[in-house]
Amino acid sequence: MDYTTLEKIVRESEKPSRFEHSLGVVEVCQVLAKRFRLDVELSRMTGIFHDYARYMDGSDMLAFCLKHGIPVEEEERKSPMLLHGAVAAWYFPRITNIWDERAELAIRHHTLASPGMGALGAVLYVADYSEKGRRHLDDNDRLVIWGKANLEEMVLEVLHREEEYSFTVNRPLARITAQTRDYLLSGGRFAL
Ligand SMILES: [Fe+2]
Ligand SMILES: [Fe+2]
Repeated sequence: MDYTTLEKIVRESEKPSRFEHSLGVVEVCQVLAKRFRLDVELSRMTGIFHDYARYMDGSDMLAFCLKHGIPVEEEERKSPMLLHGAVAAWYFPRITNIWDERAELAIRHHTLASPGMGALGAVLYVADYSEKGRRHLDDNDRLVIWGKANLEEMVLEVLHREEEYSFTVNRPLARITAQTRDYLLSGGRFAL
């Protein structure tokens, strides 16, 4: 399956505002994938598809993950809506017939990040946070994020902002999110 066909499937399943967000994510994915010499078509496909499972009920998502043996983080168990990435990652190869672990890991971890999300996951994570429809950022914020020299620094910048936000709402970073920060701070790189 190609990007255009997948976009049609997503367009029919998402309400217009979320579809707009998904298109915004695709736009950033494409630029970053090109810049860092990753698979552009695959990054566009992960971008359009990442929120595909957003409409499933939270408790259904948790049951879905348990049924399919998908590992669930403690924070995801408490807030099952976070599992929409895990559910979409399961559907991605089954709908597209593209069995590529990089795409599955990227979609799986777009909500909380992970040291194992890979370079494609870093692209999706940054794109999801910074696409032009996101109202919590202004153009200057975007330039700060996109101006970083590599994907690791970009993700660290986003994580730093997530951490600041987590203080203001008095909710600590999820364990896997803090692990990602520590991994990058100690020089860890995302797999290609
Ligand atoms: Fe999402
Ligand atoms: Fe999203």
